[in-house]
Amino acid sequence: MDYLQIKKSPSLQGKVSISGAKNSALPILAATLLSQNEVTIHNLPDVADVKTLAKLLEHLGVNITWHNPTSLTCHAQNIVHQRAIYDIVRKMRASILVLGPLLSRFGYCEVSLPGGCAIGARPVDLHIKAMEKMGANIQIKGGYIIAEAKGGLKGADILFDKITVTGSENVIMAAALAQGKTHIINAAKEPEVVQLCEILSSSGVRIEGIGGNELIIYGTGGELLNFAPIRVIPDRIEAGTYLCAGAITHSSITLENIENNHLSAITDKLEEIGFGFNKSEHSLTLLPAKTLKPFEIITTEYPGFPTDMQAQFMALATQCEGTSVIEERLFENRFMHVSELQRLGADISLKGNHATIKGVSPLVGADVMATDLRASSALVVASLVSEGTTNIHRIYHLDRGYESLERKLAQLGVNIVRLRS
Ligand code: EPZ
Repeated sequence: MDYLQIKKSPSLQGKVSISGAKNSALPILAATLLSQNEVTIHNLPDVADVKTLAKLLEHLGVNITWHNPTSLTCHAQNIVHQRAIYDIVRKMRASILVLGPLLSRFGYCEVSLPGGCAIGARPVDLHIKAMEKMGANIQIKGGYIIAEAKGGLKGADILFDKITVTGSENVIMAAALAQGKTHIINAAKEPEVVQLCEILSSSGVRIEGIGGNELIIYGTGGELLNFAPIRVIPDRIEAGTYLCAGAITHSSITLENIENNHLSAITDKLEEIGFGFNKSEHSLTLLPAKTLKPFEIITTEYPGFPTDMQAQFMALATQCEGTSVIEERLFENRFMHVSELQRLGADISLKGNHATIKGVSPLVGADVMATDLRASSALVVASLVSEGTTNIHRIYHLDRGYESLERKLAQLGVNIVRLRS
């Protein structure tokens, strides 16, 4: 099994180019099931999750030509079946995103239940309830969602009890080919959801309210869409992760190929801690803080502080002068990184979904284990200021969502190497 060996780092320097957003690439790939033409997608992140979803699409019959690791052309003309099998879905729960497009286009599909993951049960009840509201008959059998909509899906009024990113994306894609109007209330408005809406809107689907929590989607009644070439937006979470790496090592580093307005919650919090920024249109230079002030975070749906940045900021909190508090409101078990950070010497106590982090804790390198994608990146951030050497195991979690992590960190001056045990 691969592991990362990282030595304590002096300040980082230089530039890092941010890749396309994994959480935008995934719904965009699923949406190609709605197209009648060939769809070319650029700036895909070269990460395992994208490869897994591409494999699932090919398994369904989509013809995929890779031009290079970050761009491909899909042709979903000849879908041969509508069964998203467990063996692929279990590797990547966002495969649930094929439910909406398959059901809307074919009126039938079988999608393996994605199952939970380290950060929580990750139910899909809201996805299923919404499809039923649009006229689908859904049974759960043998670990599969068996969905049927004779005569196709019908537009409906969908009120989400909770804001769900992939739940919103599934309904938006289902509504795109449905008959009639779908009104979604309490929709997610993450930049990745907005990009999906913009792509569908320029492919022949009239959508009102893009960027807000209320969407009205006028379905084409089954007519397939025509996609123009797509460029995936930059990954705001990858960008935030590198900002935390720069922040914890008191570095001035520059991020390129970013969307500054997607980073406000992250940069505002770093400013509160004491950091500064020089911003230009698609790049950002971090300016070190004189001292690191402790902070409070409550994870919230966009544009609030993103849950996907909670673990990385917890690593940073170990070096702040005082007590920081983090409340995780979206997932019930997203503190798996705490015990690993404690192995490095962090002083963290947990009470329900609140974590209290006392700084400054001098960290010492150790063997630690990645448990989920963002927890792993928190261990990388912490390892940069841990005395000696840190070995991070089970880094397949990292490979799911961070493109060329070692190369990008090494370019910033980090002493990092991938080894095999
Ligand atoms: C998306 O997951 C992201 N994944 C996650 O990023 C991110 O953490 C999450 O949104 C929150 O921002 C992708 O976009 C591929 P949710 P998703 O549905 O859609 C509950 C990463 O690190 N819920 O918005 O699965 C759910 O349990 C990943 O890149 C239901 O109860 O998250 C959670 O408490 C991790 N029933 C809350 O809603 C449902 O049917 C938000 O989940 C659906 C969700």
